[in-house]
Amino acid sequence: MSRVIVLASSKGGAGKTTVVANVGVAMAQLKQEVVVLDADIMMANLGLLLGLEEQRVTLHDVLAGGVKLSDAISIGQEGMRVVSSGVSLEGIQKAKLERLKKVVNELSKKFEFLLIDGPSGLDRDAITAISIAQEVILVVTPDIASLSNAFKTKLIAERLNVKPVGVVTTRVTWKDFEIPPEKINATMELPVLASIPEDPAVRRSVALGEPVVTHSPKSKAAREFKKLARTLVKLSGTD
Ligand SMILES: Nc1ncnc2c1ncn2[C@@H]1O[C@H](COP(=O)(O)OP(=O)(O)O)[C@@H](O)[C@H]1O
Ligand SMILES: [Mg+2]
Repeated sequence: MSRVIVLASSKGGAGKTTVVANVGVAMAQLKQEVVVLDADIMMANLGLLLGLEEQRVTLHDVLAGGVKLSDAISIGQEGMRVVSSGVSLEGIQKAKLERLKKVVNELSKKFEFLLIDGPSGLDRDAITAISIAQEVILVVTPDIASLSNAFKTKLIAERLNVKPVGVVTTRVTWKDFEIPPEKINATMELPVLASIPEDPAVRRSVALGEPVVTHSPKSKAAREFKKLARTLVKLSGTD
């Protein structure tokens, strides 16, 4: 059985795309068949983070119709497969979001893991990206605003029959004003699957178009991304 997991966060810049890119590569390192999908149609940047901005056929073309999904699948680091979205305004206008479910169904037949990078917030596009998954991971920064919005997202996911599996805290600096993992766990009523530190190695790797897990594998953030990948693979084994 394949697993279709969407990563959701209330605000942009929380680190969602970074988590998808790095956990995808770390899962590929664990010999999992994994594909990452950029469902952030308006603000696509997963391909950029992976250095794949030259991709000619994108998810936009597939959603516009007349292009095969297999032509939009590229090969990323460690053999991870990637379906990027385009950045042109014309492509955005032509893309029909209602076709996304079919794309996900097709991908889930071919891969063990499908990680979906959705838009931030809770507008129609973000809710569509959640609704096409089986499970949702809430990506939060350790502050009250982020948690309260994530709780709302959790409730919406449950109504859509998408199972919330846990929380990933990002950009953590361990300062005393940040909400600690135990409290996040209690507030969200979900396990904290990982706490990704704020790490300059991430910004450096983004600038170079390479995930931090391959660019600086020993950095603190890379270690935590790899731990998260192991957790998700293990969770899958116990289902
Ligand atoms: N753990 C981190 N440490 C340092 N910088 C980070 C971290 N996660 C993300 N960033 C920075 O924040 C930017 C936005 O992250 P991104 O993953 O695109 O957020 P989102 O997809 O939630 O909008 C990245 O380009 C990167 O520079
Ligand atoms: Mg993003």
